[in-house]
Amino acid sequence: MNNHRVLKPFNSFSIDVRARRVITAHTKTKLFKLWRQAADNATPALVLGSGSNVLFLENYVGTVLLNRIEGLTIEEHPDAWHLHVSAGEMWHDLVRTCLEQDMPGLENLALIPGCVGAAPIQNIGAYGVELRQFCNYVDVLQLVNGTLLRLNATECQFGYRDSVFKHVLRERYAIVAVGLRLAKAWQPVLTYGDLARLNPQRVTPRLIYDMVCTMRRTKIPDPIFQGNAGSFFKNPVVDALKATQLLSRYPDAPHYPQSEGRVKLAAGWLIDRCGLKGYRLGNAAVHDKQALVLVNVNNATGEDISALARYVRQQVAKRFGVWLEPEVRFIGAFGEVNAVKAIT
Ligand code: FAD
Ligand code: EPU
Repeated sequence: MNNHRVLKPFNSFSIDVRARRVITAHTKTKLFKLWRQAADNATPALVLGSGSNVLFLENYVGTVLLNRIEGLTIEEHPDAWHLHVSAGEMWHDLVRTCLEQDMPGLENLALIPGCVGAAPIQNIGAYGVELRQFCNYVDVLQLVNGTLLRLNATECQFGYRDSVFKHVLRERYAIVAVGLRLAKAWQPVLTYGDLARLNPQRVTPRLIYDMVCTMRRTKIPDPIFQGNAGSFFKNPVVDALKATQLLSRYPDAPHYPQSEGRVKLAAGWLIDRCGLKGYRLGNAAVHDKQALVLVNVNNATGEDISALARYVRQQVAKRFGVWLEPEVRFIGAFGEVNAVKAIT
């Protein structure tokens, strides 16, 4: 067995698949060189962080490039700290470092797995905060010609679990660094869940950090013990008419008003209400504490997980008339495949 082909340690679902090659890149030059090599051999290449938002459906025929470019520089300005963080840094380590160095702001985003380089791709978010609130710029290596490009926050086109990196720039670029701005005038965000119980006058960044870590540990399974990729689906955003119909029938449904009368619903609640918490199909299951998380029960294959996702999606549509869309990125033999199509 060649260890440099095994992908199980590099995806949080712990799907046991292989790639033609799995190679670590610690520099931009190496990343570009490896990508060119793959292109010259007419084989696909996939840039990966820590694999916490992907589902491998089968063996990958190309080269997996693990982005491990490290480094953090901090500049102090009169009103803010400006951070330049390399893509291979771990997101949670960054949150902890900022907290320890009295640079608050990121505490609501504690314990989100993954590398900093992947954070802008789906504009990571939790507990009332999203990356876009801190993002100054994203540095991108264009893999076709090796040139660097800096995108400002507007150019990143951030949305809920969305950015330009999911669309226009797909598979032709690697994010190599992210610029963040942490304002010195700290504003606690206490809008979400148990955080609303904290006293805004007395709250500290550390208190928020601790509470977020506790809430996450009680609800979301740790991939080290049970393979998963966090929320499997995005929370659906429906139009005002659909929301009114649904809420008149289910007044207790959690919902979050968005712009233009649209309403975000809680996919976990919809799945839970279909009686699917803990539901098992093959070697995959709906988590028994958080229905939005699908878990690998016992050496599940990508097909086990996608079959369960298909079933869950159909049940939710049948009962509520809402079609869920995966948040997780599906990877087939030659690269990313359309996740919705894969489970339709
Ligand atoms: P990967 O899974 O390695 O990659 C994700 C996608 O980005 C892939 O398509 C990959 O090809 C691409 N990619 C990765 N790095 C680069 C790069 N440098 N350049 C170009 N493309 C790249 N997300 C949230 O938003 N909020 C949460 O609260 C949250 N909780 C989670 C809890 C658990 C237990 C788990 C397992 C996941 C959770 N997630 C959450 C999802 C996940 O943590 C994020 O999506 C994270 O940003 C993924 O980082 P990664 O390095 O693992 O990316
Ligand atoms: N709910 C249920 N049953 C469940 C799960 C949830 O009734 O099985 C209800 C909860 O009681 C709550 C509502 O649904 O009223 C929302 O649940 P929760 O607060 O757990 O958050 P979520 O909407 O399921 C989202 C993000 C998470 C993020 C949390 C906290 C998405 C797709 N998911 O989950 O992000 O950590 O909010 O902000 O937006 C991820 O993206 O991987 C992820 C974990």
